[in-house]
Amino acid sequence: MKSSLQLQFASRLIAWQKQHGRHALPWQGGVTGDAYPVWLSEIMLQQTQVETVIPYYLRFLASFPDLISLANTDQDTVLGHWSGLGYYSRARNLHAAARRIVAVHGGQFPRDIEAILALPGIGRSTAAAIAAFAFGERRAILDGNVKRVLARVFGVEGWPGEKAVESRLWLLAESLLPDSDIQAYTQGLMDLGATICTRARPDCESCPFADDCLANIQGRQRELPAARPKKNVPEKSTAMLVLMHAGEVLLEKRPNSGIWGGLWSLPEFFEQDDPQTAAYRLGYTTTLVGELPGFNHTFTHFRLFIQPWKLQVDHPRMAAEPGRIWLSLDDLDGAALPTPIRKILMALRSA
Ligand code: ADE
Repeated sequence: MKSSLQLQFASRLIAWQKQHGRHALPWQGGVTGDAYPVWLSEIMLQQTQVETVIPYYLRFLASFPDLISLANTDQDTVLGHWSGLGYYSRARNLHAAARRIVAVHGGQFPRDIEAILALPGIGRSTAAAIAAFAFGERRAILDGNVKRVLARVFGVEGWPGEKAVESRLWLLAESLLPDSDIQAYTQGLMDLGATICTRARPDCESCPFADDCLANIQGRQRELPAARPKKNVPEKSTAMLVLMHAGEVLLEKRPNSGIWGGLWSLPEFFEQDDPQTAAYRLGYTTTLVGELPGFNHTFTHFRLFIQPWKLQVDHPRMAAEPGRIWLSLDDLDGAALPTPIRKILMALRSA
């Protein structure tokens, strides 16, 4: 049996979205049948907020206006357009998926939900959002924002990262779908989660569900959804070589798997080792300039303390070997660099 709130949920949300939701986002084009811009926006928005995504989205589309142009680009150029957005597997998967779509689906983004789900980087919620926005299909989404909205309004207990809790939320999400207006409904869920039902300071007075929301009625907005059980984030540390020659710095390409996969980074060495010895092992005799300021960078699963060391290469530099480049500090802008590495090199440029 559905509760009266379950029965009214969609129509109230749709009415709210039409009046108070967001309508001028660059990827909102109505049901166009062209899933490419919708797909791109949903991937960028997976772990990044709207305001941050917009300039990246516009730049990306300007460079790769359609799926074919993306598929025909090399990975390094794609990663360069992602530099600073983080979670680079999203960019590698996007690129791999574009090539797969060319190879398997004749360059046409698939309409079939199973085919969409089979693409790299697309989970159940993202597939549903693409199907709803691009093709008007009646599919339930359940991203982090939606989990929070549903857990609060319907009082779903437990940490949503836990399988059993997530399954309950999926069933609930499916039960709430409207018969029509799936786009306004889907956007409404996202808008409510991002603008009203925020994690830290929900604006319950402006919420269309204020009178029925279990969290609001019981004053449990801080408890719902339940937080992830605490575990300590491991701390790691590393030392990096900033090898300089004639205004250029030596960079190494990271392996595709692992952190910063496929990006250009500074060579690392054990902190216990001497930086000049580490440089010598790479084939360079150097003059030590000194320690640069160390800092922490936080990943999802651990914190990394980075200690950069600046050294001047004594002899004319050797031609770059495969997997290494010398990059001019004047050319940082388009380069596929992890954010902390960009930070180190930007500081050198203004030094
Ligand atoms: N978050 C995820 N998808 C979104 C979208 N289409 N609009 C706004 N925020 C989003």
